[in-house]
Amino acid sequence: MTTPTRVLQVGAHGYGRVHLDNIAALGESGLVRLVGLCDPVPPAPETLAAFDGVPVSPELDALLAEQRPDVTIVATPIHTHLPLAVTALRAGSHVLLEKPPTPTLADFETLLAVSEETDRRCQIGFQSLGSAALAEAVDLVGSGTIGGLLGIGAAGTWIRDTAYYQRAPWAGRMVLDGRPVTDGALTNAFAHAVASALRLGGAERAGDVRRVELERFHAHPIEGDDTACVRLTRSDGLPIVVAVTVCAERTRDPYLILHGESGRITVWYTRDQLLVETGSAFPGARPVTDDAQSRARVLSRTNLLANLVDHLADPSVPLLSPSAGSHTFMRAMEEIRLDGPARAIDPRYYREEGTGQRWRPIIDGVDTVVARSAAELRLFSELGAPWAAGSPRDTTLPTRQGVSSPS
Ligand SMILES: NC(=O)c1ccc[n+]([C@@H]2O[C@H](COP(=O)([O-])OP(=O)(O)OC[C@H]3O[C@@H](n4cnc5c(N)ncnc54)[C@H](O)[C@@H]3O)[C@@H](O)[C@H]2O)c1
Repeated sequence: MTTPTRVLQVGAHGYGRVHLDNIAALGESGLVRLVGLCDPVPPAPETLAAFDGVPVSPELDALLAEQRPDVTIVATPIHTHLPLAVTALRAGSHVLLEKPPTPTLADFETLLAVSEETDRRCQIGFQSLGSAALAEAVDLVGSGTIGGLLGIGAAGTWIRDTAYYQRAPWAGRMVLDGRPVTDGALTNAFAHAVASALRLGGAERAGDVRRVELERFHAHPIEGDDTACVRLTRSDGLPIVVAVTVCAERTRDPYLILHGESGRITVWYTRDQLLVETGSAFPGARPVTDDAQSRARVLSRTNLLANLVDHLADPSVPLLSPSAGSHTFMRAMEEIRLDGPARAIDPRYYREEGTGQRWRPIIDGVDTVVARSAAELRLFSELGAPWAAGSPRDTTLPTRQGVSSPS
């Protein structure tokens, strides 16, 4: 049996609990061991129960110097990611950094530079990139199962109430105390949809995308968006459309569609499910129906921390979510940041449900518009949603010289 990888975690509460549970589970097989926990808010005794005597401190530098972890997990608010990740990398630790990586593209470029300069890896917490359903979908397209690839669509309809936006001061904010945060439906709640769509479209790296069209709205009283869509055009013209809302009528599992000339593949990325529809079953550009998921196959998923540990032991094992692979995601996030506060939806286009912490807006017809957007690769305004009238933010980007079709 090999020595467990020494893991330090920054951020003990909120989503950090999920990482701690994962460390405890992987610790049982001896893969990892928690050697330090950093948070200005002391963890509850029950949080520490699984980690006998683990050092806890609000000071990351001191913990890094004393514990010398192999890997540091950063699961803190978005605007704290860069300084904490850089501190860990400079202390000689590899990093598993929660998504979205940073609030700005410039911060992300700094992260990449420090990772390279320190020769330490940085895996980004897009856990859906560990799904075998994504890898299989790419293989199926490669083997011609659905004919030529025409585009990628993604749809997300969730329900979030006031409590979601009041859980932390940075929630729903574009800027907090003068610092960019860039929190929103595309950059955070459905960040996995964007990252997974880019993986399926082979368009994750710098220079892979030539155009970004963006439409962002809010019905909650927030600065960022709760309902948004983006169309990223790959350098060879392939469209990748992601449409999402947290003001839905009903919660559904979000999904990705690979549109082919003779069929389509749908992947429910939070469930590792995959459905291939070809021949007489091929629905064309019709929206995904609720019953489709019941016909899907369930595949496996590789854990991102376990993958990082495996990669460190054997570099021939590729990282599932390497930081350089978040470049197009960050390019889209930068467009969102530069777009500024989202547009308020006129209250005549939504109804309200609940009160106090349970209050939520339900935008007229949004579930259907999101599903159509992913199925037809069109933006909300192009589908005639009355609350989305107007022009998208439209940015042309430089592409890599001599690259016509990204790998
Ligand atoms: N991968 C996923 O599916 C997923 C899901 C939810 C959240 N997240 C991400 O996880 C991160 C944390 O989200 P959250 O909702 O738990 O945030 P949060 O505001 O609840 O903060 C998490 C913890 O970080 C601590 N913290 C804040 N600043 C710190 C600092 N400077 N040093 C040490 N600890 C600090 C807080 O005290 C808190 O315990 C975000 O990046 C979020 O986007 C990822």
